[in-house]
Amino acid sequence: MEVTDSPDRLRAACDEARTAGVVGLVPTMGALHAGHARLLAQARKETSFAVLSIFVNPLQFDSAGDLDAYPRTLDHDLDVASQAGCALAFVPSEAAVYPDGPTEVTVDPGPLGERLEGRSRPGHFRGVLTVVAKLLHLAGPARAYFGEKDAQQLALVRRMAADLDEPVTIVGCPTVREPDGLALSSRNARLTREQRRAAPVLFEALSDAAVRVRSGERSADVLRAEMARAIGAGPLAQLDYVAVVDERSWEDVAEIHAPSRALAAARFGQTRLIDNLLLPWPDGRTVHNTNAQGGA
Ligand code: PAJ
Repeated sequence: MEVTDSPDRLRAACDEARTAGVVGLVPTMGALHAGHARLLAQARKETSFAVLSIFVNPLQFDSAGDLDAYPRTLDHDLDVASQAGCALAFVPSEAAVYPDGPTEVTVDPGPLGERLEGRSRPGHFRGVLTVVAKLLHLAGPARAYFGEKDAQQLALVRRMAADLDEPVTIVGCPTVREPDGLALSSRNARLTREQRRAAPVLFEALSDAAVRVRSGERSADVLRAEMARAIGAGPLAQLDYVAVVDERSWEDVAEIHAPSRALAAARFGQTRLIDNLLLPWPDGRTVHNTNAQGGA
């Protein structure tokens, strides 16, 4: 596996790989875990030149403390990447990505960028989409891989690719979870033992909403109220939001009559966790299994 910190080298290597095969891109901020490995494995399977990027993007952090506290585990990350069969790891410095400081021209995520995660983290999705656009333009992948764990991010990246005619297929990969349901996240390492024990309440509340829909509940208000009650009931979780949105439009729904997604965000001490689950169809069929258990 080649490792480079140079955007020019990334572009040249991908240009060359594209003449003979298919480039796949997996953008990350490092601190790799089995969720990232799942994305890499899929990129490896579906493309001939899998590129991993590791860049803790300052543009998407709303607090300097959060940016500084973000875990950096480069040696481990490169081991994971090479074991996953990655062809190239792109590990640029901040100066390489933003040579003239933060870009003046950015990608406007539109109204969805202001809601849910965007409301709690102003400017977050502008930062995400701007760096993802830059990575897509440097690597020119045919396929780029994102986790359903960050479902709003995945939806916005899909919209950006469609609205700005990016010649790339955005591939969504199922959420990898701990055996107790907690979605893998680099933030989990910051939880105290008690917080870690409490954290699966997010997935439990989402799963309970899915069970209610399967048993005939159609009112999104009831689902939202029950999720908020379950998450708020524990002493360690501070609820940020719960939502039930239409899977296609991402508008809040009143009734479950089309594929819908339940989402939740809560703080456990200083650590903010998010999770989401695609709800079953009203006729009892699950559209897509996002509850993939275990490591990749
Ligand atoms: P990061 O948090 O490192 O995540 C990189 C990718 O891994 C994202 O697509 C995310 O959804 C996916 N991922 C994280 N946890 C996962 C899990 N438990 N199961 C499956 N996939 C998971 O998301 C970002 O970085 C950044 O915003 C980025 C897109 C790289 C732009 O800076």
